[in-house]
Amino acid sequence: MDWKKIYEEKRCTAKEAVQSIKSNDRVVFAHAVAEPTSLVDAMVENKEAYENVTISHMFSFGKGEYSLPENSKHFRYEGWFNSPNTRKSTELGHGDYVPAFFHQVPSLIRRGVLPVDVVMVSLSKPDAHGYCSTGVSSDYTMQAIKSAKVVLAEINDQVPKTFGESFVHISEIDKLVEHSHPLFELGLPKIGEVEEAIGKHCASLIEDGATLQLGIGAIPDAVLAQLKHKKDLGIHSEMISDGAVELFEAGVINNSKKSIDKGKMVVTFLMGTKRLYDFVNENPAVELRPVDYVNHPEVIAKSSNLVCINACLQVDFMGQVVSDTIGTRQFSGVGGQVDFVRGAAMAHDEKAKAIIAMPSVAVKKDGTKISKIVPFIDHGAAVTTSRHDTDYIVTEYGIAEMVGKTMKDRARSLINIAHPDFRDELKAEFEKRFNVKF
Ligand code: COA
Repeated sequence: MDWKKIYEEKRCTAKEAVQSIKSNDRVVFAHAVAEPTSLVDAMVENKEAYENVTISHMFSFGKGEYSLPENSKHFRYEGWFNSPNTRKSTELGHGDYVPAFFHQVPSLIRRGVLPVDVVMVSLSKPDAHGYCSTGVSSDYTMQAIKSAKVVLAEINDQVPKTFGESFVHISEIDKLVEHSHPLFELGLPKIGEVEEAIGKHCASLIEDGATLQLGIGAIPDAVLAQLKHKKDLGIHSEMISDGAVELFEAGVINNSKKSIDKGKMVVTFLMGTKRLYDFVNENPAVELRPVDYVNHPEVIAKSSNLVCINACLQVDFMGQVVSDTIGTRQFSGVGGQVDFVRGAAMAHDEKAKAIIAMPSVAVKKDGTKISKIVPFIDHGAAVTTSRHDTDYIVTEYGIAEMVGKTMKDRARSLINIAHPDFRDELKAEFEKRFNVKF
């Protein structure tokens, strides 16, 4: 059958599309920049028709209204990564969080551990053959489309067409809604003196020909800013943002020395500005692949000269890294941090490095500074990267190596890269904790 006919048969309004959602269903939607906003808004508007609909997704830039307390009779938020809009619901108690490594999410969907009744996705316009692109996210979206009982799609002509495993045929969609709107844009991070110093320390650990994984936030971009004089870098990363475009255009990233997917920048989702979305559009140098490929530690381990750079919230004397909780608050999620740390540790190539980078202090709303290097993690906090997995910790004051080091050696090197205002206090804690002189 002519795909254009199928397209017309499936085309409807967002209000009509969300009639497919039933009480007690689990609705999964594409995350971050790929959130299908017209469908999410229509679902919330239609809330009186539902009871106990579970909503699951990773990061969200959207309004997150389904997670508000007043909507808890209709929706139950069960997130896979908390964002500013959904965080409160897990604190108040009516929302919840599923701890799971990002690379596992497609398999949990496939095995029915996280069943999907309805998936809502955002797609590019179809090509001449009736294929749309998931554009900025392949991650769990591709598996959710395969496993869902009902597939609802927002067709947005501003979604870029990307290559890799990101194509969905019109025949795989149950209902589609046309809605043209600009994609969410991540503001460019502010790179101050602290981030610049962290970037320089990280750059000192990156050799020409390295393959990079970069996490989210100002630090990855600060690292990229220090790599302008390197050669033949490659990307195998959960995500990239605008910093990678700049280095690609400058010829620094060319993916020529990669041991897997040579010549391609491989990512599972994208988050940046329009510059990034324009860059990836119909660009054969970039491939979006599902997260059970990109983030699988066994795949990551095949990369040569791999350097992973991720951020965290707190590190204790033993090198336990807290990245997704602040005390009992579920702040974000594990995402791909441990996938990459473990992949680097499993790499046959002894050059692989996993860096956790952070400013030495956090500044509270009232201006008080707190050390991110602490004797003990906060009460109720969860360890994201265990002390057995931690490799390098970097602050603006230097680099602390963890692998093969004793607990006391780890603590000493961490205190040496703590903020100077806290070092005396930390040294006194060291002496109490370990019963020896610093
Ligand atoms: N104690 C209390 N509060 C702290 C803190 C600490 N030790 N460290 C940071 N904070 C506060 C900050 O002050 C800030 O507060 P604000 O929102 O009121 O400004 C907030 O926590 C976030 O800190 P910030 O350093 O700005 O975070 P970020 O946006 O750079 O993100 C992570 C850092 C760790 C939260 C983020 O990288 C993450 O979720 N990582 C886990 C997943 C991951 O690494 N994935 C990898 C691939 S994408």
